[in-house]
Amino acid sequence: MASVSVDEAMRRAIELAGRGLGATSPNPVVGCVLLDADGEVVGEGFHAYAGGPHAEIVALAQAGTRARGGTAVVTLEPCDHTGRTGPCSHALIAAGVSRVVIAVPDPNPVASGGAATLRAAGVQVALGVRTQEAEAGNVAWLTSMRRGWPYVIWKYAATLDGRSAAADGTSMWITSEAARIDVHALRGTVDAVLAGVGTVLTDDPRLTARNLRDGTLAIRQPLRVVVDSSGRTPADARVRDGAARTWIATAAEVGAGPDGRVDLAALLAELHHRGVRAALLEGGPTLAGAFLAAGMVDRIVGYVAPKLLGAGPAALLGAGVSTIADAIDLEITDVTRVGPDLRITALPRKREG
Ligand SMILES: NC(=O)c1ccc[n+]([C@@H]2O[C@H](COP(=O)([O-])OP(=O)(O)OC[C@H]3O[C@@H](n4cnc5c(N)ncnc54)[C@H](OP(=O)(O)O)[C@@H]3O)[C@@H](O)[C@H]2O)c1
Repeated sequence: MASVSVDEAMRRAIELAGRGLGATSPNPVVGCVLLDADGEVVGEGFHAYAGGPHAEIVALAQAGTRARGGTAVVTLEPCDHTGRTGPCSHALIAAGVSRVVIAVPDPNPVASGGAATLRAAGVQVALGVRTQEAEAGNVAWLTSMRRGWPYVIWKYAATLDGRSAAADGTSMWITSEAARIDVHALRGTVDAVLAGVGTVLTDDPRLTARNLRDGTLAIRQPLRVVVDSSGRTPADARVRDGAARTWIATAAEVGAGPDGRVDLAALLAELHHRGVRAALLEGGPTLAGAFLAAGMVDRIVGYVAPKLLGAGPAALLGAGVSTIADAIDLEITDVTRVGPDLRITALPRKREG
């Protein structure tokens, strides 16, 4: 087999890492490619699920003795601690790998230190290959580990005139089946799905990740979280159907903000504590407005349907904006057609001061 460059191996490792997206929390996604001394690929691996073998271990098992004198190309600094599995730094040293190339250092104080351990054992360590790309592939985990609360994606559906429901309150099926299938795939990549009690009372959503054609549930279900200050979620609400774990987060349990409603910062801190690294905020406009006003949204995914309603609630309410100068500026990072609808992905620009 022809030899590959370290850069090419890292590109492949990042691609492998992405296969674990949605299944590894509270761990990161990680990919690893092992090259022998001649630069030939002798092992590949990715972290497939929390508690499962780490990417390096899978690649080392494939490579066997061919790892000796070779290079391990990893998307994240190899761990240096014994958790559910042993330290990868030690496994790489034991296998006789002579060089380790890392895209991103591990921000987790519990697991970091792998690079130092490798260096101390005489292994050459290089940092910084395809760092931006590897960061982007692990953005939710890295962001949540660095600041201690989950990466929040606000997803909404609206008509071209920005309505999230009709004047009579009906809002189901604003967007097409293709868009709804896309949303279910998005749910499969996060650890929690959040909705306000207003949405539960109006739409009674299930908030599960499932195949829309036959209704079968995805193997891994995000935690369903209803943000419900005073516990108004009905006993027979679908979110209580047992199809997935559900947490009715009340002000009594989480703590209340100055307005008496659930304290959102405390809510996110508690979700992080429960292992949630990526959360999908699914509504509705009041809760989304409160999250945006607090600067707690990291990414926006809007599904815009080719429909006009002319009346009915807006997709967003009370985001703390009263004048155009205070508008929340966004950077659009992707526009994709999903069936007849548009999916627009945007990042809120950081505000000054
Ligand atoms: N098109 C879409 O993408 C979409 C998505 C979802 C919903 N919807 C539509 O939105 C409508 C419901 O709107 P909504 O605004 O009432 O629903 P919502 O945003 O889901 O729920 C709002 C409720 O969340 C509770 N809450 C708890 N803590 C809060 C906090 N810190 N900040 C803000 N709210 C907090 C409040 O009730 P308590 O104070 O009692 O807790 C509040 O009334 C429905 O018509 C639904 O169909 C549309």
